Amino acid sequence: MKKALFISGSARNGNCKEILESLQKDFWLEYSTEVIYLRDFDLTPCHGCKGCKKQNTYECVYPDKLDLLMGKVMDAEIVILATPSYFYNVSSLTKNFIDKTYPCYHHKLLKNKKFIYIYTGSDDPETTKKRLDACMWGFSACHGLNVLGSYAFSCTEEGEFHDENDKNSKLKEISALIRKYLNM
Ligand SMILES: Cc1cc2nc3c(=O)[nH]c(=O)nc-3n(C[C@H](O)[C@H](O)[C@H](O)COP(=O)(O)O)c2cc1C
Repeated sequence: MKKALFISGSARNGNCKEILESLQKDFWLEYSTEVIYLRDFDLTPCHGCKGCKKQNTYECVYPDKLDLLMGKVMDAEIVILATPSYFYNVSSLTKNFIDKTYPCYHHKLLKNKKFIYIYTGSDDPETTKKRLDACMWGFSACHGLNVLGSYAFSCTEEGEFHDENDKNSKLKEISALIRKYLNM
C-alpha cells in the first residue's frame, strides 16, 4: 500500500500539527499514512564526522533514532514536511533533520523523492513562502528531490489561522496534489 508520511518540524502541538492531521484524515482509509514529530526522534546534531558516509548506511554513528526516521522516509511514496518560520528560517528541528540526511546525499538515496513543503508563520503567506523556499532550496537541490509544491499558512497562536478561507483552499489543493501522486 502506498504511504504518505507527514512530518512536523515544530516543537509544539500547534499549527503544523493541525494542518498535517487535517490532511492525514483525507487519506487514512485508503492509504497508509502517519504523522510523525521530529522532536520525538532525539536527533543528535550532525558532527560533520562523515562516519555515516564511511559505513554506507543512512544511520548516524552517534546514537539517536535517525535510522527509524529515515526508514519511514524511505518507505513513503510522498513526504509532507511542515516547519514553522522562525526568524524567517526553518525551525532548528527541521534544519537538524536536513543536516542528518547527509548520508543520503552521498548515496543519492533521496533522489526524486516526492516532497511537499508546508510553512507556518505569522507574516503574510507570500513573504513566508518566499523566505522559506529560499531556505529549503539547498536541501531540494543537493538531493535532487522532486518537490511537488510548497504552501505557506498565516497563523500565530495554536489554532489561530489569520484567514480561514485561505487555509481551507490550501488544504484542499494540497490534498488533491497528494491524491494525484498516490493514485499514480
Ligand atoms: C522563536 C520564534 C520565531 C518566530 N519567527 C517568526 C518569523 O520570523 N516570521 C514569522 O512570520 N513568524 C515567526 N514566528 C511565528 C511562528 O512561525 C508561528 O507562530 C507558527 O504558527 C508556529 O508554528 P507551529 O504552531 O506549528 O509551532 C516565530 C515564532 C517563534 C516562537
